[in-house]
Amino acid sequence: MENLQIVYYTGTGSTRIIANTLQTQLTVRNQPSEVNRLTVDSAQRIKDSFDAQTTLILVHAVHAFNAPELVYTWLKSLQPHMHRRAMVISVSGGGEMLSNTACRTTVKRLLTKKGFEVVTEAMAVMPNNWMSPTPDEISKMLIQVVPQKVEMWLEAFLSGQALPYMKPLLIDHLITAAGRLETLGAKQFGKNIKASDACNGCGYCVENCPASNIRFSDETSPHGKPVFGGTCHFCLSCVYECPQHALSPSKLKFAVIPTGYPLRAYLNPLDPPLSKAELSERLKGNGWKGVKRYLEVE
Ligand SMILES: Cc1cc2nc3c(=O)[nH]c(=O)nc-3n(C[C@H](O)[C@H](O)[C@H](O)COP(=O)(O)O)c2cc1C
Ligand code: SF4
Ligand code: SF4
Repeated sequence: MENLQIVYYTGTGSTRIIANTLQTQLTVRNQPSEVNRLTVDSAQRIKDSFDAQTTLILVHAVHAFNAPELVYTWLKSLQPHMHRRAMVISVSGGGEMLSNTACRTTVKRLLTKKGFEVVTEAMAVMPNNWMSPTPDEISKMLIQVVPQKVEMWLEAFLSGQALPYMKPLLIDHLITAAGRLETLGAKQFGKNIKASDACNGCGYCVENCPASNIRFSDETSPHGKPVFGGTCHFCLSCVYECPQHALSPSKLKFAVIPTGYPLRAYLNPLDPPLSKAELSERLKGNGWKGVKRYLEVE
C-alpha cells in the first residue's frame, strides 16, 4: 500500500499552511497521508517512516535561492528505493523570478538519486519574511489562494502530470550555488541573538527552533534565559514569534523586518478579495514579477 508522506520545512509557519492544506485535501479525496515538519530533532524519525512504497510530497521554504541546508542533508540520508514518486513545492516570498527558479534543482537531483521520480514541481508564494515585507493585503491574498493552488498541484500530481515552471538559466544555477554560503551568515546570526529581560521563560523559542539551536541557561529559576548556539538556520521564527518580543539579533539585523511577520493576522481573508486591477496597481515594479505571475495578474 502507498505510504504517502508530506514532509515540510518551515521557519515562520507559512509552509505549514500549505502542508496542512495538502493533507486536508488528500483526506477529502480519501487518500490518507502523514504530515511531518522536518527539523533536526524529527529528521531521523521521519526517515525511519519511509519505505519502498513511500510517495513523497516535499514542501520547503526558500532560503537564499535554495532549500534550507537541512533539507539537503536529510535527503542525502534517505535509503534508496527505486520507482517512487514525489512532488516538490518550494515556498518563496518572491515567486518565479531571478535565481529562485533554480531553488529546486539540488532537491530534485538528490531525490532522483534516492529513486524518486519528481513528477510534479511548483513554486508557491507566501508573505516574505526576509528584509522587506509583502504588503498586508497582498499577504492576505496569497494565503487566500492556497486552497485553489493546492487543488491544482494535487490534481496534477495524482494524475501523473507535470506542471509548467520557469526553467533556470546557467546564471541562476551559479547564484543558487553561491547562495549556499548563506549557512555561514546563519551561524553568525544565531550566535548573536540575545534575550532581553522581557523574556518570561515560556519555552516557545526552545521548542520551535528547527535547528535545536536554543536551550535554557539553567542559572536562574525556573529555566533561566534562552541561549543560542552555532547551528542556526536563519529561519527567523524565534525573533518574530517570541510572545514577549524579547529576542533581537546583533548581527545581520537587516534580515529582520522591523514590523515583524504577523502571519496570523494574514489569515483573516480580504472580503471582497482584491480585483485583478487592484492587484496590478499594488504590485507595480519588477520586484513583484513573480508574485504577479503567481496571482495571475499578468
Ligand atoms: C534566510 C532567508 C532567505 C530567504 N531567501 C529567499 C529567496 O532567496 N527567495 C525568496 O523568494 N524568498 C526568500 N526568503 C523568504 C521565504 O522563502 C518566504 O518568506 C517563505 O514564505 C518563508 O517560509 P516559512 O514561513 O515556512 O519559513 C528567505 C527567507 C529567509 C528567512
Ligand atoms: S519565546 Fe520569548 S519569552 Fe518565551 S522563552 Fe523564548 S525568548 Fe523567552
Ligand atoms: S535560532 Fe532562531 S533563527 Fe535560528 S534556526 Fe532557531 S528559531 Fe530559527
